[in-house]
Amino acid sequence: ASLELGPYRHFMQKEIHEQPRAVADTIEALIDAGAFVAELFGDDAAEVLRDVEGVQILACGTSYYAGLTARYWIESIAKLPCTVEIASEYRYREAFANPKNLIVTISQSGETLDTMEALKYAKSLGHTKTLSICNVPESAIPRASRLVYYTRAGAEIGVASTKAFTTQLVALFTLTCTLARLQGRLDETQEAAHIDALRQLPGSIQHALNLEPQVAVWSDRFAPKQHALFLGRGVHYPIALEGALKLKEISYIHAEAYPAGELKHGPLALVDESMPVVVIAPNDALLEKVKSNIQEVRARGGEMFVFTDADSHFGESEQVHVIRTPRHVGVLSPVVHAIPVQLLAYHAALARGTDVDKPRNLAKSVTVE
Ligand code: G6P
Repeated sequence: ASLELGPYRHFMQKEIHEQPRAVADTIEALIDAGAFVAELFGDDAAEVLRDVEGVQILACGTSYYAGLTARYWIESIAKLPCTVEIASEYRYREAFANPKNLIVTISQSGETLDTMEALKYAKSLGHTKTLSICNVPESAIPRASRLVYYTRAGAEIGVASTKAFTTQLVALFTLTCTLARLQGRLDETQEAAHIDALRQLPGSIQHALNLEPQVAVWSDRFAPKQHALFLGRGVHYPIALEGALKLKEISYIHAEAYPAGELKHGPLALVDESMPVVVIAPNDALLEKVKSNIQEVRARGGEMFVFTDADSHFGESEQVHVIRTPRHVGVLSPVVHAIPVQLLAYHAALARGTDVDKPRNLAKSVTVE
């Protein structure tokens, strides 16, 4: 294993650092095509996607959080209604089915039993428009789906998913723009801007990776904690969820994520000097709202760890620590902000001496119920 690991201590760390390459590979076919062409999803994709009336996403774990992120894109860019549901919930309820909706399953392994069963259930309800976003060619879920988009993260060995997540996000963004284009909701200027943003993404991810030494310093303060709270708003709320999941999976610190606006409806009661609060606060339209949420935490003595962009003018203090990415990257910002929360979980686990690549009680792929 040491040969495969190269300069890295764990597969998770290696896989975190592979993300610029993994993302570049995943969008390679798109960049070659120079447009969001339906064929990226399969030969008869244009026919399947053209009259889609809505999108239903089904997944588990980290893949579910990729779906939650995509919902913001699908509704704002493709202007289609989108619901995202945990596969193990969907498969056991009497779900409403509109066969004109697109069923999108997201699975790194392509073998997760609940996601596979949710897909079968959707088909039994009359759904024929099915699309799999998957990292393992010819695995069970893509084989059972009409359309497929393979992420090209390469083999992911660490149980905690990292490069699969960011490549799922770019696949979902590509799907969003493809739907928008097919349905006449994306003009050429917008299309060119989105392709350009994707092209620049590997570089922006590399800039976020360069923050690792700063994040490692934070994680020393995290390691002794029992609990942590993650906050985000809008499209960055799912990144807060993913950050909390990563931290609990590998460091065993209890972590919860909340949309920052919901703080006052409960979690604020938990905030005191011993509760670290991680805030995902890029310089987007919700920044001022997030800043006032931060004041609520500050007033209760909470210690804050803010991930933001260089241009967001965040005041630092003894209570408020700030790490900045070089710039706000616009619509793809959640992909960039996934990096520091992965690094935080990794370094907190390292400081606690846990088995990073094989956390207790968890499996890489859950093929039983
Ligand atoms: C397990 C893994 C997670 C993963 C989830 C869904 O719980 O530990 O990292 O997110 O399964 O897996 P999938 O392969 O369907 O994306």
